[in-house]
Formats: sequence, C-alpha cells, structure tokens
Amino acid sequence: MALLELHSVSVAYGRIQALRDISLTVEEGEIVTLIGANGAGKTTTMKAISGLVPLSQGSIEFDGADISKVRADLRVVRGICQAPEGRGVFPGMTVRENLEMGCYTRRDRKAIAEDFDRVFELFPRLKERATQAGGTLSGGEQQMVAIGRALMARPRLLLLDEPSMGLAPQFIQQIFNIITEINKQGTTVLLVEQNAQQALSRAHRGYVLETGSVTRASTGKDLLADPAVKEAYLGVA
Ligand SMILES: Nc1ncnc2c1ncn2[C@@H]1O[C@H](COP(=O)(O)OP(=O)(O)OP(=O)(O)O)[C@@H](O)[C@H]1O
Ligand SMILES: [Mg+2]
Repeated sequence: MALLELHSVSVAYGRIQALRDISLTVEEGEIVTLIGANGAGKTTTMKAISGLVPLSQGSIEFDGADISKVRADLRVVRGICQAPEGRGVFPGMTVRENLEMGCYTRRDRKAIAEDFDRVFELFPRLKERATQAGGTLSGGEQQMVAIGRALMARPRLLLLDEPSMGLAPQFIQQIFNIITEINKQGTTVLLVEQNAQQALSRAHRGYVLETGSVTRASTGKDLLADPAVKEAYLGVA
C-alpha cells in the first residue's frame, strides 16, 4: 500500500475537463515529481489531493483510507500539507508568526520548538529575518517561508507547487537542495515543477501530464533519458 494513491481521478471546472482519469502513487519516503506544460493540470492535481477541488470521478486514498470526501482542513490534520503556488505569505505577520500559522493545530510545545530550530537550520536566512514582516521579504525569502510553514505542520506528505518559480539560479539550487534534505529527514514529497531537469534529477519517480492525462511514468533517471521528455521538457532535441 502506497502512502498516496489516486485512482482514475477526473476533475472538471464547469465544462472544462482539467483532469481525465489520472492514476498515480506516492510511496512513503519518496520524492515524486509531476511535470508538464502550462495548463496540463499539475496544480489541479495538487488541489484535488489537498481537497480544494472536488473530484468528478475516481478516488484518492491516503495512508489506506479513502479521503475523497474529507474536508481540506481535515486532510491537513491527517498529514497532507501544501506550500501553495504563488507563496501565500501573510504580509502583516512576521516571519516567526507566519511559521507559527503552520502549526496552529498543534499543542506539543517542545516538539514545536524543535521544529522551529529545524526550519531555521534549513533556512538560516529566515532566522536572521524572524521579526521582519512577511510582506517586506524578497520573493525567494517568501518561498522559504511558505515551505517552512508547511513543514511546521510536521506533514507526512508535503505538496510543493513550483517552489522554484521566479527564483534566481543560485536560489533555485538552494531550494532543491533543501527539498532533498527535507526528504532525507523523512518527509515524503510530491513536487510540481517547470524546472524538469532539476525535479527529475532529484526525484525517485516522475509522471508526465499532458492536457489532463498521465502520458508517461517512470523513474526520474529514465524520464531524464527519454528522448520525448528531453525534447518537450528539457529543451534539448
Ligand atoms: N478555477 C478554474 N476555472 C476554470 N478553469 C480552470 C480553473 N483552474 C484551472 N483551470 C483550467 O484547468 C486546466 C489545468 O490548469 P492547472 O492550473 O491545473 O494547470 P498547471 O499544469 O498547473 O499549469 P501551470 O504550469 O501554468 O501552472 C487549464 O486549462 C486551466 O485553464
Ligand atoms: Mg500550476
């Protein structure tokens, strides 16, 4: 049994069919990546998993239980946590307060303190900026807050939607290093990325989405070597 299983999931926005019959699995301990062009349905897949859009068909199992009809906030309690596309940092709150929002359902003070230490170790920049308002952080720093906040919930499955979007090259490298480190520390990761080269080289396995359907599924290594993937997503003929 995988940690996460999507069985023939379809999602529609009115008459627009965004996902058609998607099946995928994420095993405990893996980094799995979803790659695909703009509009392929990557964000919709993440929203279906976190409960932000209803399924028109199919089912989603998490940790052996059917969660297809479970409310989004209760999926967070079960351990599914998303760092949203576009970051979603609260501008009027400090960095520390933003991070605290990630664990507002928790009461285990000692473990929360440990998790603050862990997040500040992963992101030393955030430690320096702990009292700065979220709205005054740079784009890359806001991305760090969004990931750090998701980690404060101690997720079993971390959903990351385009964590490298809009970042300078040295920041991109750093974000991917941190994702690898988070995974090594025991968190399972589902990663959506435009940066297919980085994502596939870090992931255990990957899926290619094209106009709402899964067209390829393999190890990250095999997908990197696949001529069709190379041509469409890696910018090499
Ligand atoms: N709220 C919505 N209402 C109507 N159509 C939507 C809505 N959200 C997404 N769509 C459509 O569903 C399809 C999939 O969108 P989605 O955001 O999942 O793509 P994506 O793979 O994440 O793309 P990108 O790489 O640009 O982020 C697109 O055709 C999009 O226009
Ligand atoms: Mg998207």
